[in-house]
Amino acid sequence: MSERRIGIIMHGVTGRMGMNQHLVRSILEIRKQGGVALKDGTRVMPDPLLVGRNAAKVEELAKKHGVERWTTDLDQALAREKDEVFFDAASTQLRPRLLKRAIAAGKHVYCEKPLATSLAESMDLYQAAKKARVKHGVVQDKLWLPGLLKLQKLRDAGFFGRLLSVRGEFGYWVFEGDREPAQRPSWNYRKQDGGGIILDMLCHWRYVLDNLFGEVKALSCLGATHIPYRWDENGKRYRATADDAAYATFKLAGGVIAHFNSSWAVRVRRDDLLTLQVDGTHGSAVAGLRRCLIQPYERTPKPVWNPDIPQPINFFEGWHEVPDAGYDNAFKVQWELFLKHVAGEGAFRWNLLEGARGVQLAELGWRSWQRKKWLDVPRLKA
Ligand SMILES: NC(=O)c1ccc[n+]([C@@H]2O[C@H](COP(=O)([O-])OP(=O)(O)OC[C@H]3O[C@@H](n4cnc5c(N)ncnc54)[C@H](OP(=O)(O)O)[C@@H]3O)[C@@H](O)[C@H]2O)c1
Repeated sequence: MSERRIGIIMHGVTGRMGMNQHLVRSILEIRKQGGVALKDGTRVMPDPLLVGRNAAKVEELAKKHGVERWTTDLDQALAREKDEVFFDAASTQLRPRLLKRAIAAGKHVYCEKPLATSLAESMDLYQAAKKARVKHGVVQDKLWLPGLLKLQKLRDAGFFGRLLSVRGEFGYWVFEGDREPAQRPSWNYRKQDGGGIILDMLCHWRYVLDNLFGEVKALSCLGATHIPYRWDENGKRYRATADDAAYATFKLAGGVIAHFNSSWAVRVRRDDLLTLQVDGTHGSAVAGLRRCLIQPYERTPKPVWNPDIPQPINFFEGWHEVPDAGYDNAFKVQWELFLKHVAGEGAFRWNLLEGARGVQLAELGWRSWQRKKWLDVPRLKA
């Protein structure tokens, strides 16, 4: 059995996402399982080269996980012909320049979302990658979450009948950082550093809606900065200049209405940090990250409004769970598809243009909030 090595220059792996989801739970897991199998039996084996600005941090990370190769010299890494992929999971604002350098060096590129902080930069990256004929992709992890895969199956099986609406509830309380340390990086709350929940989450909602329920045609979005001051990683108070909540409504092709509340200033009393309720004429489903519960028409209760008596119906009954079917980490599944694509097997449609579509929706969301207007979402051309 032959092996095909793919050298990956991994940037931003000292951060939360880069380290946990991409290095540890994806690339190192893929190595542990003996690579990714191609149809002809060849095993594609990723070989990471960790890159970061802080030598001590990168070295410690590499040692901890038994990764042999690490450096602080990105130019030298990009000059290495044998490392054909550049991956970036650093903070968003750095991404366009990094990706541009990698594309210019002839690397295939894969990166976290958002692709950039503006549509213009995103399209510029897409055009550059296309012109250089390199392979490219953007993380769209939610598509491989068990909860969402179950929704997709239900949709494909016609369970919903005619799709009517989708309600997304995303969020949790992110501590301000004074009494209790914050569980997210402080740059997320500073617009000047690429922060903001509209940019962060609307790119996710774009691919979730486009892929599962219908292409997004128009939106209205109201943002808010509910918590005006926060405390950073060094305990220093700063002004939160970015939006920490977004209340957005989307019109989809086919007439489906979607509404997503996204907030870092909300306390959770629902099944999961993200829940999606999908209602159709034949049945409804509520999915979290992993679980999914359904209620078909035949089991739909018939409530009658009467505030004078205690509610006689337990609305949590009458739902049953969609069984599990052996799911893997969502980031890892997408990595495997990208590695196969680089090795020449299979298309990869979650590319920089798709990434640009996410940024487009975020940019329009921001504009809709500022102008207090519904806005159409023009179709981006390849
Ligand atoms: N797909 C998802 O669900 C998801 C979820 C969360 C975040 N994200 C995205 O993932 C990206 C990273 O987010 P995160 O939460 O992991 O952020 P984070 O924990 O703050 O990590 C930031 C990373 O960027 C590096 N970095 C920051 N400034 C740098 C500079 N000037 N030069 C070189 N490196 C620099 C940091 O290096 P040091 O360690 O040296 O500081 C660190 O590796 C963002 O684009 C974010 O939108 C995606």
